[in-house]
Amino acid sequence: MSTTSVSGDAELIAGLPAGFRWGVATSAYQIEGAVAVDGRTPSIWDTYCRVPGAIDNGDTGDIACDHYHRMPADVALIKDLGLDTYRFSVAWPRVQPRGKGPVNPAGIAFYDRLVDELLVHGIDPWVTLYHWDLPQELEDTGGWPVRDTAYRFADYSMLVFDALSDRVDTWTTLNEPWCSAMLGYAYGAHAPGRREYPAALAAVHHLLLGHGLATVRMREAAPRKVDIGITLNVATAYPASSSEPDVEAARHADGMGRRIYLDPLVHGHYPADVVADLAAEGVELPVEDGDLELISAPIDVLGVNYYFSQKFTGYAEDGRTVDDAGQPISRTIPLDKPRTAMDWEIVPEGFTDLLVSIARDYPGLPMVITENGSAFEDHADASGFVADTDRTAYFTSHLAAVAEAIRQGADIRGYLAWSLMDNFEWAYGYAKRFGIIRVDYETQARTPKQSALYLKDLAQRHRGQ
Ligand code: FCB
Repeated sequence: MSTTSVSGDAELIAGLPAGFRWGVATSAYQIEGAVAVDGRTPSIWDTYCRVPGAIDNGDTGDIACDHYHRMPADVALIKDLGLDTYRFSVAWPRVQPRGKGPVNPAGIAFYDRLVDELLVHGIDPWVTLYHWDLPQELEDTGGWPVRDTAYRFADYSMLVFDALSDRVDTWTTLNEPWCSAMLGYAYGAHAPGRREYPAALAAVHHLLLGHGLATVRMREAAPRKVDIGITLNVATAYPASSSEPDVEAARHADGMGRRIYLDPLVHGHYPADVVADLAAEGVELPVEDGDLELISAPIDVLGVNYYFSQKFTGYAEDGRTVDDAGQPISRTIPLDKPRTAMDWEIVPEGFTDLLVSIARDYPGLPMVITENGSAFEDHADASGFVADTDRTAYFTSHLAAVAEAIRQGADIRGYLAWSLMDNFEWAYGYAKRFGIIRVDYETQARTPKQSALYLKDLAQRHRGQ
């Protein structure tokens, strides 16, 4: 079944520590549907999906995988795969409609049932509090570029924490703040679709502040030992050559993608070179007294989401090293690797390099891979089965990359595949399939793909070794 030899898989399994988590991840807006049910109000994604041309094919999350109504059967699928951890996100506008006021009993009841259903099946629930679905009303008052949103996030987090912390052991505040800030507010590629660079940098800081406020309050309120952390999408930024402009371009990219988050979270300050780069662009992070103490409140686990790495050059195509505004060039050029259906290059060695670099730069921080996976052109047979050797090979090479990082000293405690099932892939709508379980969107039938059976087999063998 696997595209590697049995001995390759055996070696991979042997390289993963005892107690290593095996799981899958999803997020609320991508799977739940039921957007106007039980008191849920619109999020920025409901609004953004209505912008003509924003989403491929005009798709929306209105129905998605209809998980809200099919949750017990979906949990049973995770159980059938023998996976021990399920990472899901809570929809803020379901639990706290309009982003203010008390908990919505009907909304939190869904997650209450989900947690119980997981526990009954022996699956560890891993909650992500924010996977991009900001209540629209909070965007209307400024969104993440506004400081108050961080306080609103902490209040919302406590509503969820109060309801579920008696049973949920692991809490992630934010999923991929880079995407919320940069795709949402700088590049206009995600909700809310704004293109305001200074506002995006304010969003970076306020997202981190929201994380810190929520972390401190959850820690104080914790009824027992819980693990609290954050999930970042990070990658290795390789310089195209050892020339100074190329090395500079890679440094800049690493600063804006990795260190601008990890340095304040772990070391309690923004990286000086990033602050200088931003100052040169006329941008200042809106840091107030005490913010960095909050942001660097200790965390128990760093969630790492990895999909690809990139190579950077400091030269424009015409050879210039500065643009018309006098800013240094930093642009990606191909690594000349095979690509997934997202056009993302497949770079497992970048995964190892990334994990080893985090272990080196931020020692003592346990990591869990909270997302890793790939979209490919799936072809289902008459029964709905997809023989996804490409996705399976991606899992093999990336799990081997994790095992190699562990061998080099990185403390990595688990691997959660993205994703449990095909789902709403943001601006790509339903066109891109990341699931290890196929979803037929006409019938909502679920069929495990070859990659699901592969992960099931690996997890089982690892546990049995
Ligand atoms: C990540 C997101 C996740 C999914 C994958 C493919 O950036 O966290 O929701 O879209 O990419």
